[in-house]
Amino acid sequence: MKIRVLGSAAGGGFPQWNCNAPLSRSVREKRPGFVVRTQSSIAASSDGQGWAVFNASPDIREQIAASPELQPRSDGPLRHTPIRAVVLTNADVDHIAGLLSLREREPFILYATRRVLTTLRENSIFNVLNPQVVERRELPLQGTTELEGPEGPLGLTLETFAVPGKVALFLENEADANFGTEEGDTIGIALWETGTTLPSEAQRTLFYIPGCAAMTDDLRQRLQGGGCLMFDGTVFNDTEMADTGVGSKTGGRMGHMAMSGDHGSLAALANVELGRRIYVHINNTNPVLDPASDAARTVADAGWEIGYDGMEISL
Ligand code: MLT
Ligand code: MN
Repeated sequence: MKIRVLGSAAGGGFPQWNCNAPLSRSVREKRPGFVVRTQSSIAASSDGQGWAVFNASPDIREQIAASPELQPRSDGPLRHTPIRAVVLTNADVDHIAGLLSLREREPFILYATRRVLTTLRENSIFNVLNPQVVERRELPLQGTTELEGPEGPLGLTLETFAVPGKVALFLENEADANFGTEEGDTIGIALWETGTTLPSEAQRTLFYIPGCAAMTDDLRQRLQGGGCLMFDGTVFNDTEMADTGVGSKTGGRMGHMAMSGDHGSLAALANVELGRRIYVHINNTNPVLDPASDAARTVADAGWEIGYDGMEISL
């Protein structure tokens, strides 16, 4: 299975369009070690021909332009794309806005949970993807699904599972406990090539969890022995938005567990066996974006990699 990180940043990207804080300024000024990052998405393929995109970011047009394998084949028909399926892990704007760029009556299969499909249905702008052309299929909150494109199986199977999260920012209900979040608002995905024997070949499994509000025993056990984990790397410190003066929300309030701290992902996953562990969905306030920072060293010393756009993995 081939995996490509299309976008390694959280919502807003890096630099964020209106951010003048030192990290965004450093990447804008092309300081050594700082790299531009587009918004949260990965792609996977079993044969290098048909691809599934996981989360459709507002930067998808640019991401396709940077990924020859996602562009129309030079010997293909006049209208053509290797993207045969799109899978959504939540309804956050950084994960669904790119659907609007995938219009033009191009068939693919769109997979999401009932909660996310309802959000798409209730926001009529998503009708630019005519359901008669782009079939919408519901993912279970817990279960396996063999991914298909319009022409048939893609050779990829995924398992979906609910993870602690938060309803999309634009759907928050302030009056409600937990802002109206329900199960199915955020899922994690385990992905493998169809035919892989599990659990004996667990090292050929990718876990993709770009949003996770807290670690649970169930999730920890699930990840054990996986080949590669791509995990929520939004913030390093829970309070870094306030600490850097750019906002007031904590990571927790945004539905993202921090990397550091007693309840952070570094500690929570320290004893979980994984082939590789890679942070994705990295917010523009996260100090790991500066490779010379203490935070970047802490993360590397703990065996984590910082995802980057164009990163390729084979499992
Ligand atoms: C998030 O991951 O918390 C959201 O993408 C934030 C947003 O909607 O910009
Ligand atoms: Mn996000």
